[in-house]
Amino acid sequence: MSKIKKIMAREILDGRAYPSLEVVIFLENGLSAKASAPSGIYYNTFEPKELRDEVLKNSSTPGVLRAIEVVEKVIAPALKGRDASAQEEIDDLLIALDGTEDKSHLGVNTIFAVSIACARAAAKAQKMELFSYLREYFNLPVSKKFPKPIFTMFNGGLYADTSLDFQEYLLLAREESVRENIILGREVYQSLGRVLRENGFDSDTGTEGGYAPNLDSSIQALEMIRAAAINSGYSMAKDFSLGIDLGASLFFDNKEDKYIFAADHQLLSRDNLTGIYQEWFLSQGVDYLEDPLGEERFSDWRELTASIGDRVIVAGDDLFASQSDRLRQGLKEKAANAMVIKPVQTGTLSEAVECVKLAKKYGYQVIISARGGETNDDFIADFSVAVGANWLKSGAPARGERVAKYNRLLEIEILCQENLQK
Ligand code: PGA
Ligand code: ZN
Repeated sequence: MSKIKKIMAREILDGRAYPSLEVVIFLENGLSAKASAPSGIYYNTFEPKELRDEVLKNSSTPGVLRAIEVVEKVIAPALKGRDASAQEEIDDLLIALDGTEDKSHLGVNTIFAVSIACARAAAKAQKMELFSYLREYFNLPVSKKFPKPIFTMFNGGLYADTSLDFQEYLLLAREESVRENIILGREVYQSLGRVLRENGFDSDTGTEGGYAPNLDSSIQALEMIRAAAINSGYSMAKDFSLGIDLGASLFFDNKEDKYIFAADHQLLSRDNLTGIYQEWFLSQGVDYLEDPLGEERFSDWRELTASIGDRVIVAGDDLFASQSDRLRQGLKEKAANAMVIKPVQTGTLSEAVECVKLAKKYGYQVIISARGGETNDDFIADFSVAVGANWLKSGAPARGERVAKYNRLLEIEILCQENLQK
């Protein structure tokens, strides 16, 4: 029994100089564990709500003082004396205490941080690594393969001050081991930075650590990543492939019924979108498209997936908002073939596990993803291994809050190789 003695909450910084929430759980046996919750940059109507204050004094940034108060006044008294290792009971209690559909009473970030801190405390009490503890607790099969990283190389859209429209231009690492994949990521990233500097482009970075120069088009961005990888000695398809997170909802003009891609000087209807996507993946080696279409348009997704889904990972992020009911609708409509799951968006750890199980049951590839406003919490690395995800997407192989997750994945690989993981 790992009885909860006290729960504390405090404000910490996320990677963008925004306030974020950290929760610490103290057990009666003297152990303690902490967890923090990331924030999104783009929110849609389907996702649960974060609890945030009005903007802070002298700042445009919303604070987390209400979330802290909720932890201390509502959650802590209800959880005091409970067993931290009874995860599903804890999660059910958090859901009941909240009592809303969209988790707006306690806030999804508040609930998530508490849920994860409980799991960490319980794992510690059982002297287990978090990924092994999660696997055992939720009775998950051991996957032979580790998740492969999807690295951000360029940031655009809301994620950087650049001409590029799309959120992220991505490098999918396809080597066997985590170690090889991380070496690949860092070599290509460094090589890309050199090419940018040599050609007079800006090599400053955006929110997720991707470079953020002003380029002429998406094709140029893809070409540069590909060249950087090939110059570093890697082969397309065998060692790596390319991807784009378009975040297409932001370009959809409802009145015109068209997508407006400004950097590419394209005003696209649904019909010629599929053509553009085919051009990209055929000529540039793109085999991963995240949110290529608006989040409201299941029927467009179905058409696209039917035409390119046998060759391309068509991943729903904003489309599903990590919600099982949105996924069910997507499954019915054959909308995609992969799901991005941001555990914090699901609410509790138990809900995150359920969501992955459902996606896997229907043969979807699973991408466990960080959010735009990350902290140094590396929970998603353990989670991605425990649930046997195909991919871990945490931004560039640069910036502390991004590499915390990749470094933890590397650590887990070593623990498993050395059989030290208990
Ligand atoms: P978010 O987006 O910041 O809105 O979570 C991140 C992403 O789509 O990769
Ligand atoms: Zn996304």
